[in-house]
Amino acid sequence: MQRKSLVLLVIALLPGLVACVNEIKEPTQEGYFKPTATVQDIMLSLIDPSADGIWNSVSTTITKTGTEDKQPRTDQEWQEVRRNAITLIEGANLLLINGRQVAAKGVKSENPGIEEGPEEVQRLLDADRESYVKFAHALHDSGVQALAAIDAKNSAELVAVGGRIDEACEQCHQRYWYPNQNKAK
Ligand code: HEC
Repeated sequence: MQRKSLVLLVIALLPGLVACVNEIKEPTQEGYFKPTATVQDIMLSLIDPSADGIWNSVSTTITKTGTEDKQPRTDQEWQEVRRNAITLIEGANLLLINGRQVAAKGVKSENPGIEEGPEEVQRLLDADRESYVKFAHALHDSGVQALAAIDAKNSAELVAVGGRIDEACEQCHQRYWYPNQNKAK
């Protein structure tokens, strides 16, 4: 193909190429991510079970004959707790997708007076999204610490990190889910 006709071809295709590029949205634009689950769904399907998997993988039981330490031992057991850490870490990112609702319409608080209903949680969250982002990042970062402990097969460290994961859950819940808990006591 001659140079001139190649240039002409490129010019002819250009609008199509530009149109293709234009179709891809920015991550902040509506329609880039397609949030389907609610925050509540993500808590119940990803965050809560994966945190439980991490917490339950290391435990100490005091018996009459002494203490029994439970910890991952085989490669398979370490793999399993690693999967939980990955789910927790990336689940924290999913909490931050724009447009994700707290709960489905019509869902009520299971413990009224102690835990706010989704509408109030949503209102608090919309009023202070910055802190919500910080709390989600703190959860993410505690998950990354768990991953490091898991990759080092360091179960004592994993116990310590488990405490930090718990704190990350509590801080966000106290701010948005049961902000009046202390007053209710
Ligand atoms: C960035 C904020 C944030 C973090 C961090 C967070 N949560 Fe939540 N969580 C929420 C909000 C908001 C709700 C309330 C949604 C609702 O109305 O149920 C909730 C609700 C829940 C629920 C109740 C779901 C239901 O049945 O209503 C569980 C269980 C839960 N979280 C577990 C956890 C655990 C475990 C962690 C830590 C490993 C955690 N969450 C970390 C924001 C967070």
